[in-house]
Amino acid sequence: MNQPWFTIRWHEGAVELLDQRLLPSQEVYLHLTCVEDLSVAIETLAVRGAPAIGCAAALGVALGAEESQANHLEGVLGDLREVFIPRIERTRPTAVNLFWALRRMEKVIDGLAARPDASVQTLRQGLVAEAERIVREDVEICRTMGRHGASLVGEDARILTHCNAGGLATAGYGTALGVIRAAVEAGRRVSVIADETRPLLQGARLTAWELSKDGIEVTVCTDSMSGHLMRLGEIDLVVVGADRVAANGDVANKIGTYGVAVLAHAHNIPFYVAAPLSTIDLAIPNGDSIPIEQRGRDEIARLGSSLLVPDGVDVRQPAFDVTPAHLVSALVTERGVVSSPTSESIKKLFSST
Ligand code: MRU
Repeated sequence: MNQPWFTIRWHEGAVELLDQRLLPSQEVYLHLTCVEDLSVAIETLAVRGAPAIGCAAALGVALGAEESQANHLEGVLGDLREVFIPRIERTRPTAVNLFWALRRMEKVIDGLAARPDASVQTLRQGLVAEAERIVREDVEICRTMGRHGASLVGEDARILTHCNAGGLATAGYGTALGVIRAAVEAGRRVSVIADETRPLLQGARLTAWELSKDGIEVTVCTDSMSGHLMRLGEIDLVVVGADRVAANGDVANKIGTYGVAVLAHAHNIPFYVAAPLSTIDLAIPNGDSIPIEQRGRDEIARLGSSLLVPDGVDVRQPAFDVTPAHLVSALVTERGVVSSPTSESIKKLFSST
């Protein structure tokens, strides 16, 4: 499937990205020329989804090297290490791909700075090359993951997904939606139920937008309907993405995922998680230690200019929840499908070639 749109790219010294806040009503690309604007784009969800946030962070480092006003290498390195990377690091705490991409870019910075021919120009070129490599690799990884996961999808499968784990949440193709796309490419007929995903409606706005563009049958339901549909026997499997997978297989993903997993378990419906190795955080022992982003009150209390919650009444606003590993039927990665993931099987993924 060749998408006639892109999520994020490097273009003529700037970062360009599809502004996801405006979808599906408007398709507008932002042209960002400074790290502050890129960081605000991540914070306000113009670009979102764990792998896409990682790509944005990597491109942001390349952008920082362009933006720096320093006219000598030490100055640019100082701006990157002390100003730009810490700024990007503060944007969103849960998706580990952000930190994974920044650490990878830092390694490249260290390597480039130590070269005998090191200069501002070689640094800038090297960082753009590495960031573009991360973007390209992300698409390839999603395609590979999709091929592995497609084996879990039967003919005429009716698939529930939550949030958007598609091309928009990655550099293209998608994690959970990559599994669905690969099944379709393998010739299977499928239909998708997209949970609307309160409060920011990534399922209704984004999953429905990109699947319908691809001609994949998609129906939107509100988050509270999935139990009803499962009880009616209308869901064959669930596939979602992840923002961070802990070493023991616990999965942080968009708020509401845990409820879907519990319901799937109660109805004996397989619950699959598709995530690249860059989303697995071996340094975090279990889901309790995953930092959960708390977002602003207005995302829940207001809809545009309308008030949904009376002033003075508290709201809770965690953006993610944690699904314990025992509810995950299989983890789909670029290294293959791991059934009933455990610390051991996850660790093995990193040692296989
Ligand atoms: O707040 P968001 O929109 O960045 O949350 C995104 C999700 O929770 C996705 O399901 C997750 O990042 C998987 S992306 C392939």
